[in-house]
Order: sequence, then structure tokens, then C-alpha cells
Amino acid sequence: VSAERVRVGLLGCGTVGEAAARILIANGDEIRRRAGTPVQLARVAVQDTSKARGVDLPAESWTSDAWSVVTDPDIDVVVEAIGGIDPAKALILAAFASGKPVVTANKELLSTHGQEVMDAADQAEVDFIFEASVGGGIPIIRPLKESLAGDRVTRIMGILNGTTNFILTRMSETGGSFEEALAESERLGYTELDPSADIEGYDAAAKLAILSSIAFNARVVAGDVHREGISTVSARDISAAHELGYEIKLLGVAEIQDGAITARVYPAMLPKTHPLAAVRDVFNAVFVEGEESGELMFFGRGAGGGPTGSAVVGDVVEVARNLATGGRAVGCTCAGYAKLRPQEETPVRYYVVLSVADRPGVLSEVAGVFARHEISIASVRQEGQGDQATLVAITHTASEGQHQATFANLGGLAVVKSVDSTLRVEGTDER
Ligand SMILES: NC(=O)c1ccc[n+]([C@@H]2O[C@H](COP(=O)([O-])OP(=O)(O)OC[C@H]3O[C@@H](n4cnc5c(N)ncnc54)[C@H](OP(=O)(O)O)[C@@H]3O)[C@@H](O)[C@H]2O)c1
Repeated sequence: VSAERVRVGLLGCGTVGEAAARILIANGDEIRRRAGTPVQLARVAVQDTSKARGVDLPAESWTSDAWSVVTDPDIDVVVEAIGGIDPAKALILAAFASGKPVVTANKELLSTHGQEVMDAADQAEVDFIFEASVGGGIPIIRPLKESLAGDRVTRIMGILNGTTNFILTRMSETGGSFEEALAESERLGYTELDPSADIEGYDAAAKLAILSSIAFNARVVAGDVHREGISTVSARDISAAHELGYEIKLLGVAEIQDGAITARVYPAMLPKTHPLAAVRDVFNAVFVEGEESGELMFFGRGAGGGPTGSAVVGDVVEVARNLATGGRAVGCTCAGYAKLRPQEETPVRYYVVLSVADRPGVLSEVAGVFARHEISIASVRQEGQGDQATLVAITHTASEGQHQATFANLGGLAVVKSVDSTLRVEGTDER
């Protein structure tokens, strides 16, 4: 490290990289005071150096060769804002091998190869921090790692994807269909070219894996997370939820009970009185429960250049301060592979809608199936008549497996025409 400044090499100058570069330059005075040393954006690697960028740097600072940045002896810190696994992972490992700390926003990499990369950072004894990888501008990784280091987190519940929260908010407000809300989200530019990573819950699952690993000191990868998307949520589900006092949200829920972790992402009914039910549009929020700290909520913009760039630069300041003072960021605390509870064994509650025959005795037949699977019903009501007759039930807590077996049996009853909707109920006091 040069005695008089910390020099940053930035890899990627897209949405996140460009915002981080702009903030590093514009807030240089604040950053110098907070880091205890000037922080200079020295080099930027991009794919196409001929593209115009909103970053004021001399021409010689730009390169299309990211490798030359990570191995440059004049670079003290690498910021990886390319995304994806290849070549981001190899570049990060090469930076560690040259003794450089790395800041990244790369959730794909962390939620799949995170352990390998963190181990490499520990071995090289350099900082590796990634606040921007979950929740964009929302501080959540550092609070979990540092502020709550003395507590035991028991549960995390989050709205971790802005696009799907926007879609569900529009459906809730307009009464429209999933397809209409998705089209609006596309018009407003909130949706990726291929929306499936958002819609099918992959993005939220990656973020939940990162949060669970840190909160529970365990190794949880994206593939460990049970995942369902929102494309099956209907306008009818939303209006039924409203009538019962609920909103439908795509939730990431992770819990630790008796040493076993459950982690799942799915659309779920949430009481309107729950703080997460008020999180609208593209906003994200993470609700954390600690044994001693109780309930905490972290709220903000989960994506976008400014918010994500702000989180990246916050990490750069921490790294720069550590370089100047000889300190180290909190490294990997994951004790080992987690014991993961299979989804079938996870305790859940359900909201169920059945189309039924309109004749006496239907309710008791249906109730009998729930009873056989040892599920008790919290509330049930019959709606409509004749061909329109439906039963809407909410269950008490029982395992996912008990519920699935019940739904399969209900589908086989002569009095049940169809199982129209099944959604978990989260955020009630019942566990
Ligand atoms: N966008 C968000 O709101 C957000 C929020 C949280 C986290 N993140 C994460 O932040 C990371 C970056 O996302 P982004 O949205 O900023 O992506 P992006 O807009 O697509 O930018 C990617 C940048 O990487 C550059 N690049 C690609 N391959 C390269 C290579 N081999 N060498 C050098 N540069 C290369 C591209 O260069 P060109 O410009 O020349 O094409 C571009 O500048 C991802 O991990 C993402 O998951 C993003």
C-alpha cells in the first residue's frame, strides 16, 4: 500500500460499477476522512473501452484487460462489479493471490462458490466483503456479522427481490393479473431481459442463502433453498387474501431450530399488520429475529446504481481503513456444512381454496381428511353456491409433508372438484 493513498482497481463499469466510480470521485473528501487515507479510483476494466461512461478519468486509466488490473502492483483494492461466475471468480482469486483485498456485489458467485472464495481470502489474509450482494443499498450483511455478533439470530424473513415485489404490489392495488403486472414492470424497465431469475425466485434464493450462511454461521448455498416463484399467484388469490386481512408477498424465510436450518422462498400470505406487508413496489426489506435483540427490520432500495454503489463504496472505505491501520474485516465465520431440514419436515401453515359440491356433509368430509393427517384447521368458510361453491381454510402449524399429503387426498374426494389454491401463511405468531 502506498503510504499516502489507497488505489482502487474497478472491474466492470455497468449499473453498479459506474455508480460506485461516481460516488468514489464525488465523495472523495468524506471518504478520505472516514477511511483515514485518500482513496483514489486508479484503474477501470470494462469489456468495451469505446463506450461513453459517466466517469471522469484519464484515458490511460481504462482497459479491457481485467487481469492487468488484478495483478497491477500499484492497485491496493479490487472492486469486482462484472457479475456472474466466469471470469469474476478467477479474477477475485487472482487478486487474493497478489495480496489484494476485494469488494464485490456478486450474489451469484457468493451463493454458489462463496465458501471457496472466502477460504481463499482467509488464506491470503486479505479482506473480502460484499455488503451490496444482498438488498442493494440496505445495510444487512454488516449488521448480521458485526452488530448482532453477540446475539443468536433465530429467524430471517425478507422481501429480497424488487421486481417480484413490484408485480405483487401492482396486483394487490389494481386487482389485475400476474401477466398485466409483469407487462407493466417490463414497461418501467424493472425487469431483466430474461425475467425468470426474478419471477421464479432464483435471485431471492441466492440472497437468502447468503443471509442464512452469515446469520447461522453455516454453509448454505442457493441449491439448498426450497424455491417457488410467483407466476401461479392469481388475482383471485390476492382478493381472497385481502378479505382475510392478508397481503401476498414473495418471502425468503430462514430459521434455525434444534440446530437444523430451513430455508425457503415462496409466495406467502402475510398478515397486513406485519411490518413486511407494508413494503411496497420495488423496495426490499429484511426482518430479523434475534434471541436477545428481538425483532429488527432493515428496509430500502434493493437494487439500482446509487443504492448498490453506495454499499460498494462503504465496503471500499472499510477496506481502505484496514489497509491504513493494519486491521482486518470479519472473515468467514461459517463453522461447517449446515444441517438442513428438508422442506417436507418444515413446519408451515397453509391457506387452501377448494371448489366443492354444494351439498350437506361436504365440510365434514373435507375436515376428515385434514384430521387424518393430524392437521387442525384454524378457520374455514364456505363461499358461493351451486357450481361456484368453494371452501377457504387456514390451517394450524403442521409439516409441509402432512399438508402435501392432505392436498393429494383432498383432490381425490368426490365432493372436491378441484384444489384451486394452496399458499403458505407466514408472519403469524404461531410457529
Ligand atoms: N444492478 C443492480 O441493481 C445490482 C444490485 C445488487 C447487486 N448487483 C450485482 O452487481 C454486479 C454487477 O451488476 P450490474 O447490474 O452493474 O451489471 P452490468 O450493468 O451488466 O455491468 C457489468 C459490467 O461488467 C463489464 N464486463 C463484463 N465482462 C467483463 C470482462 N471480462 N472484463 C471486464 N469488464 C467486463 C461490462 O463492460 P461493458 O460496459 O463494456 O459491457 C459492464 O461494465 C452483479 O454481480 C450483480 O448481481 C447488481
